[in-house]
Amino acid sequence: MFQLSTDAEFAFVLETVLSMSNTQGAQTGEVLRAASQITPGDYESWYKEFKVLGDAIHARAAGVNATRFPVSAREAYFRSSTYYRNAPFFLHANRTDPRINKLGALSVADFDKAAALLPIPGEKFSLPATSTNVPNGNFTVPVRFFKGQDCPGKVPTVIVGTGYDASQEDSYHEMGIEILERGWNVITYEGPGQPTVLREQNLGFIPDWWNVVSPIVDYLETRKDVDMDQVALVGISFGGGLAPLAASREHRLSAVLSVDAMNDLYSLYATQLPTELLELYKNGDYKEFDDYMLGLETSTSLSTHDRWTISQGLFTFNTDSPSNWFGRLPAFTANATVLQNITCPVFVGEGENDTSAPGQAEDMVKALGNQSTYCLFRTDVGAGEHCQIGAESHLAQVTLDWLADVWDGIDLPANLTDRIY
Ligand SMILES: *[C@@H]1O[C@H](CO)[C@@H](O)[C@H](O)[C@H]1NC(C)=O
Ligand SMILES: *[C@@H]1O[C@H](CO)[C@@H](O)[C@H](O)[C@H]1NC(C)=O
Ligand SMILES: *[C@@H]1O[C@H](CO)[C@@H](O)[C@H](O)[C@H]1NC(C)=O
Ligand SMILES: *[C@@H]1O[C@H](CO)[C@@H](O)[C@H](O)[C@H]1NC(C)=O
Ligand SMILES: *[C@@H]1O[C@H](CO)[C@@H](O)[C@H](O)[C@H]1NC(C)=O
Ligand SMILES: *[C@@H]1O[C@H](CO)[C@@H](O)[C@H](O)[C@H]1NC(C)=O
Repeated sequence: MFQLSTDAEFAFVLETVLSMSNTQGAQTGEVLRAASQITPGDYESWYKEFKVLGDAIHARAAGVNATRFPVSAREAYFRSSTYYRNAPFFLHANRTDPRINKLGALSVADFDKAAALLPIPGEKFSLPATSTNVPNGNFTVPVRFFKGQDCPGKVPTVIVGTGYDASQEDSYHEMGIEILERGWNVITYEGPGQPTVLREQNLGFIPDWWNVVSPIVDYLETRKDVDMDQVALVGISFGGGLAPLAASREHRLSAVLSVDAMNDLYSLYATQLPTELLELYKNGDYKEFDDYMLGLETSTSLSTHDRWTISQGLFTFNTDSPSNWFGRLPAFTANATVLQNITCPVFVGEGENDTSAPGQAEDMVKALGNQSTYCLFRTDVGAGEHCQIGAESHLAQVTLDWLADVWDGIDLPANLTDRIY
């Protein structure tokens, strides 16, 4: 991919923001201009440029008479929401930095305004949930429901969940719009560890992800516009590991889509550690392990990506202790035994140049056998990135046409790589 920053991690995240332009969440000119002003590797510079851009586009949105010009206001609010959301992306090393929550709330508020101006306004609410892995035993799941058709009758519905660093507002742009284009309903959500739940309920990731998804399926059963025979679950990025975990206990889904396979975070991170550091962990020398890891988190000899991985892990698991974070990771592994509990077809995607979870798609496919359909997304047509970032239409064509085949009872191929429908 063409790099928008000499810092590889900045370049990657800039690509994710730029790709929002494909689905009404950004504009190429706005993102390229911000990219040109950001100092590579400088977190404050990143924050400043996206905050300035968010403020500028927010002011444009707020200046529009939304009653007369709802489209103009909506389009601008969707973009300011994206820029506010991305401004604090690299600030997570200090969880008490007030800009994280402030910008998160601004982003949600602008998205709310935009969603309210859609031809069929988006709905937003929270669902009650329970888990033995949260302090009080209960929490709530924030969701957004978008109707696929403005007519009575039940239609297919896709639940979309995200991963380690994105929000349900991102999910709307990444896949939601493409699903709505097909006349299907979309419900996006966030669970513990994800932005709104971290911010408002102070809860880090929990491994019993079915306890996040089942309340959503319960809720869908109460709606008159949802066809319960056609409900699918999509997981994006680390969501590609969370979705199969959920489906291992939630059997009302007719399909699961893992975009992309990330079903073993522990192995992924463990293999990246220096040998002597992993030894400390395995020997139970947690104090030394923590000191070593916290040293790495602030060491400029490490790449932005590696430092960010540590900060984001501690942030999303809501802990100050790297050994606590590491100790909790294995329970998120959707291993062969867990996968064999899934009763519906599973789509397993992989980007040709996605190095973020090597080998995991292959493991999933092996464990699922003929219950899975695999697709390798190619780099030569710009779809080889993690989660096919920048190739949203291509991703939607492959995944959603496969989903339609599931629902229409058409035989599913084991491999969709290079297949042209
Ligand atoms: C974290 O942010 C808070 C609030 O801005 C600040 O008081 C504190 O000094 C910061 N801590 C570090 C380690 O930078
Ligand atoms: C959890 O349950 C308690 C007692 O029923 C209730 O007061 C509280 O509001 C619930 N919290 C959430 C987040 O649902
Ligand atoms: C697979 O994961 C389950 C649930 O976490 C665990 O009970 C089981 O021991 C694991 N199996 C293997 C072979 O690791
Ligand atoms: C498979 O599902 C059953 C029933 O929900 C559950 O008791 C069991 O623990 C699951 N096995 C794994 C490995 O997740
Ligand atoms: C992308 O993947 C192809 C095939 O594995 C490899 O030849 C190429 O070097 C990769 N490109 C980058 C930029 O990583
Ligand atoms: C899928 O694999 C299972 C177990 O190997 C086998 O029993 C079944 O017939 C296969 N189904 C199809 C449609 O090939």
